[in-house]
Amino acid sequence: TVLVVDFGAQYAQLIARRVREARVYSEIVPSTMPVQDMLAKSPAAIILSGGPSSVYAEGAPRLDRELFEAGVPVFGMCYGFQLMATTLGGTVDNTGAREYGRTPLHVSKSGSTLFEGTPDEQSVWMSHGDACSAAPEGFAVTASTDVVPVAAFENDEKKLYGVQYHPEVMHTTHGQQVLEHFLYRGAGLTPSWTTGNVIEEQVAAIREQVGTKRAICGLSGGVDSAVAAALVQKAIGSQLTCVYVDHGLMRKGETEQVEKDFVAATGVQLKVVDAEERFLKALAGVSDPEEKRKIIGREFIRVFEQAQAEIIADAGPEVAFLVQGTLYPDVVESGGGTGTANIKSHHNVGGLPEDLEFQLIEPLRKLFKDEVRMVGQELGLPDEIVQRQPFPGPGLGIRIVGEVTKERLDLLREADAIAREELTAVGLDRDIWQCPVVLLADVRSVGVQGDGRTYGHPIVLRPVSSEDAMTADWSRLPYDVLAKISTRITNEVADVNRVVLDVTSKPPGTIEWE
Ligand code: XMP
Repeated sequence: TVLVVDFGAQYAQLIARRVREARVYSEIVPSTMPVQDMLAKSPAAIILSGGPSSVYAEGAPRLDRELFEAGVPVFGMCYGFQLMATTLGGTVDNTGAREYGRTPLHVSKSGSTLFEGTPDEQSVWMSHGDACSAAPEGFAVTASTDVVPVAAFENDEKKLYGVQYHPEVMHTTHGQQVLEHFLYRGAGLTPSWTTGNVIEEQVAAIREQVGTKRAICGLSGGVDSAVAAALVQKAIGSQLTCVYVDHGLMRKGETEQVEKDFVAATGVQLKVVDAEERFLKALAGVSDPEEKRKIIGREFIRVFEQAQAEIIADAGPEVAFLVQGTLYPDVVESGGGTGTANIKSHHNVGGLPEDLEFQLIEPLRKLFKDEVRMVGQELGLPDEIVQRQPFPGPGLGIRIVGEVTKERLDLLREADAIAREELTAVGLDRDIWQCPVVLLADVRSVGVQGDGRTYGHPIVLRPVSSEDAMTADWSRLPYDVLAKISTRITNEVADVNRVVLDVTSKPPGTIEWE
């Protein structure tokens, strides 16, 4: 394992991902972890991330010198680099020599482990206030910029390396290569970590954890729960029962996809609860978005609990585990909590009762989203499941502006299916983040179709590009694709006589309309 020590900001997650892209397993630890505890994990190498502090700031995170003396290869980046420099006796000054953004780096490669085979001049991403003016004793200076004399140093004998810039960032042209040089040449690691290893490891761990007992897994139709279920299924087969709550707010074909494709691919035992009527009844007469969300969340939990109770009634106290599709970023962001405790409220499910005495199985809690997709692929799940775009838990219920009724849902399902079909046909479904299709049920406009006047509803297309859904931009879809979607929707979907395009970024608009 390569430990990535997190000094704050978002760098550590990106570094951990880049290490795994180099096929070496990595884990993030907080910089507050005592060095003895880090070393107790017997890391193959340690990477010190960047962070927002100045090494001179009061309360700035520090590291015990012992970390550099344990014989473990260490690579410091940005803040990690400066910390390494000051801890080992180099000089870091607060001279006002700031550098932000793309910066030309001058490399001296002779004998360099990190830079071998890379150009003498390369573009790197900088973000620092303080600057290193003298490397610690025994270190060779291997790069500089117009502003900082020491932008990289190495001590090959002690296997200690550092760069002032951010190799993990896309704008650093040879960042991945330099990182790989550290891992393979500096630390002597081999690129052997694969999602295949993950599957083997997890299958063994789950078997051990569950023993002869039974587990339940809630399926949402999304990627994470599907892959988690498939993995647990591979481990314990018929000891797992999946529950899928059909709230009637899914898109066209989605429930069938879970029922047929997922079951066919995994052989899982599936309990489908048809709760459409219950949800529609609870939503009748409600137009307020927040109220709709609350009702859908509440009903979902009730139905899921009931299904669980039925399974337990059938199988007895043997049912001791609940499978969750928690991912690594969730774990890191919630403070890196460890192990299996009693169920706590979890955003994937929407908060389960605290007194339920299940143990959690979270087979994806070490993985990033793209790795989850790879595991899903390797487990033989169909592309339609593994490559799915994000879809909100409340489903189409929050894509009908106005009251949710069966007729309106059916109409929206048709329009949405057409948009998806056309985007898939031209291969754009993988380029865009997602494309909500929204029915403005409370709005009517005049149109003309055939020889007659119509008075129908508009459909909104909301294609967006995004990296994390926190911010988004509207996707510039080709006009001919938009034209085709518009023509088909107005021709094929009764009561829709207008298609409009949402050209708002986020912020100020959110991705969904409600
Ligand atoms: P917004 O509309 O807030 O959406 O820009 C950001 C991302 O989150 C999805 N979304 C949800 N996902 N439950 C979910 O599981 C929800 O209640 C929910 N609301 C929004 C949305 O589709 C987008 O990807």
